[in-house]
Amino acid sequence: MSVSVGIDRIGFYTPGLYLDMAELATARGEDPNKYLIGIGQSQQAVIPPTQDVVTMAANAASQILTAETKQEVAMVLFGTESGIDNSKATAVYLAHLLDLPSNTRAIELKQACYGATAGLQLAADYVRVHPTAKVLVIGADVARYGLRTPGEVTQGGGAVAMLVTADPQILALAPTSSYHTEDVMDFWRPTYRTEALVDGKYSTNVYLDFFKTVWADYQQQTQQTIADFDAFVFHLPFTKMGRKGLRQILPEARPEQQVTLKAAFEASQEDNRHVGNLYTGSLYLSFLSLLRHGQMNAGQRIGFFSYGSGAEGEFFSGILQNDFQKGFDETALSTLLANRRRVTVSEYEAIYRAQLSNDARDVQLAVGEESARYYLAGRQNQQRQYRIK
Ligand code: HMG
Repeated sequence: MSVSVGIDRIGFYTPGLYLDMAELATARGEDPNKYLIGIGQSQQAVIPPTQDVVTMAANAASQILTAETKQEVAMVLFGTESGIDNSKATAVYLAHLLDLPSNTRAIELKQACYGATAGLQLAADYVRVHPTAKVLVIGADVARYGLRTPGEVTQGGGAVAMLVTADPQILALAPTSSYHTEDVMDFWRPTYRTEALVDGKYSTNVYLDFFKTVWADYQQQTQQTIADFDAFVFHLPFTKMGRKGLRQILPEARPEQQVTLKAAFEASQEDNRHVGNLYTGSLYLSFLSLLRHGQMNAGQRIGFFSYGSGAEGEFFSGILQNDFQKGFDETALSTLLANRRRVTVSEYEAIYRAQLSNDARDVQLAVGEESARYYLAGRQNQQRQYRIK
């Protein structure tokens, strides 16, 4: 008998600061509606120097792990493209901060924004073979472009943590998925750079082409059509991107289903619109946003489009489970987002420049405003100094 495997719990963390996109537009001499409507972003997370992908992942994962489940974590698969070391995996730092058992595998996965999907699929395959195991999958990133570049409005950051198990509470993953890889130079970050290089317009075209390819292949493999789906969630580098993806397939749906799919999309973009791009975590924040703001019911099928520049695309689906609302902490998530402090454009620029320098100097960071449980206190002897409150 085949085991049902998928997402049992989801946690999300983003730091306590944000920038208003209308204010950024004004400061950059743009019409605010270009950012609010044309790009589809209202706010953007601002990442203080005291948070990096390890601390954000720890702050997200600690929401979904109990003392008991920690003992059952067999593997940590950490998807990121803003890692802090070229050799040692972020997953090892994370396993230590979370006090996971030492007989845990801890690995970092990289393929741009696709890394967490790689983690999710590898985790699901592992649990299918080892049904008592739990796998912690992370998507954590800081999306950083240059100040005053077209990419600036699409920055953001945060972490999504998912526990993948047998008999999951939230979503049972369908075993079939469609994936596509091509060597494409749409967005990349050579090891000597802290900001990505991007061919922006080209990247949006490649995203849409990959979606077309994997969606067609998925339908061919499964014989399913759009009529079999209740919602689609997308990797959302900015919310307009997913809107364009949905528009590409909407004509395949009957008029009444088009209305339902559009409403589901609105729910799925709500949180991303206020946080910005999370790179690896973006698709899964959108899924969480759908669960929080949409009118979803157990038994419904959700389609997922994951895209990582460079490029890898994957389409897969899952069925919502009876207890899906118990798999995330709604009060904690709404409090996290409601309690963020708005920063001015000049404050944001100062924070942008104050990131931990890319050299060997010892640094003591000002941790005064930091309220998160896990944070970065600085660097000593070329080692990051992580702290737990
Ligand atoms: P841009 O050149 O500044 O913007 O860059 P634009 O001129 O193309 O305008 C954007 C939209 O705003 C257009 O709408 C305009 O018409 C509209 P569209 O034609 O696209 O529907 N607009 C207005 N709307 C209302 N009122 C107005 C107004 N003015 C203009 N007054 C670009 C946009 C996305 C290229 C830029 O922000 C960028 O380079 N971003 C970074 C790259 C990116 O996010 N690419 C997405 C696909 S690749 C991906 O998803 C992977 C990624 O997450 C990384 C990874 O995998 O690791 C990026």
